[in-house]
Amino acid sequence: MKTFHTIAELRETLQQERAAGKRIGLVPTMGNLHEGHLQLVRQAAANADIVVASIFVNPLQFGAGEDLEKYPRTLAEDKQQLIEAGCHYLFAPSDEEMYPNGREHQTEVEVPEISNMYCGASRPGHFRGVTTVVCKLFGIVRPDLAVFGEKDFQQLLVIRRMTEDLFLPVEIQGAPIARDERGLALSSRNGYLTAEEMEVAPALQQALQDAKAAIEAGQRDFAAVQEKAQQQLEAVGFKRDYFSVCRRQDLHAANAGDDQLVILAAAYLGRARLIDNIVIDL
Ligand code: PAF
Repeated sequence: MKTFHTIAELRETLQQERAAGKRIGLVPTMGNLHEGHLQLVRQAAANADIVVASIFVNPLQFGAGEDLEKYPRTLAEDKQQLIEAGCHYLFAPSDEEMYPNGREHQTEVEVPEISNMYCGASRPGHFRGVTTVVCKLFGIVRPDLAVFGEKDFQQLLVIRRMTEDLFLPVEIQGAPIARDERGLALSSRNGYLTAEEMEVAPALQQALQDAKAAIEAGQRDFAAVQEKAQQQLEAVGFKRDYFSVCRRQDLHAANAGDDQLVILAAAYLGRARLIDNIVIDL
C-alpha cells in the first residue's frame, strides 16, 4: 500500500489506474480504524479494482468545544490494518493540503433540512463540514464508488442527497453496522469509555431493539416509545440527546401509517457521545 500526503501525487497515480481501465473505490475515514472501517475497505475491494482510503481528521466538521484536539490519531496502526484489509492507496493529507486557502475561506457544500436535524441539531455545522470535505475528496480521487458505514445513518443520507443534487458521478454504498459481541456499534469514540461504561454501552442497542419490538407488535404511539427508551437509557447512566422514530426516506418524524422506518439514537455516556440506529420494515 502506498501512502500519499499530497493531492498532486495521488492524482497522478490514480490517473494511470483510470487510464488502465480500473474502477476506483473510496473509503473516507478519520482514522483510528476498527473492524467497522475494515469492512468498508473489504466492501470497496469487492466492488472496485483499486481501493483508496483517506485518513483526515476534518476540522471543519468539529464544533467549538468538541473533541478535535483529542480525537485519536493512530496512523501507524491504521496503515497496518489497511494493508491487511486489501487497501491499495492511502491518502493522508495535512490541513494545509486540504484547505490551502484557509478554512475560513473554503467554499462549502450544504444539504438543507436533513443536515439540521438530530446530529445536525446537536452539532450545528457538523454536516456542512462533512459534505464539504467529502465533496473535496470526490474531486481529488474521482472515485467510481464510495463506501460509508450505516452507523452514521443520517450522514449516509446527507451524502447520498449531496451526490444526487450535484450530479456527482459516484455510486454511494452503505455498509452494515459492525458490532462487538455484546451488540455495541463499533466507533472510534468507544475509546473514550471507561471499563464500567463499556459494560453499560450495549444498552443503547438494546433500547433500539426493544423499541423496534414494540412497534412491530403494533405500538403506534411513537412519542411513548421514544420516552420509554430515553428513560430506560437514563436509568443505566446515559444522558439524553435524541431517540427518534423516523421515516427512512427523509428522517421526518414517523406517522402511524409509515412503513419504512428507522429509529435514530444518540446519547452521552461519560465523555463519549454514542450513536446507533435500527431499521424497521412494517
Ligand atoms: O464518518 C466519518 O468518519 C467522517 O464523517 C467522514 C465521512 C470521513 C468525513 O470526514
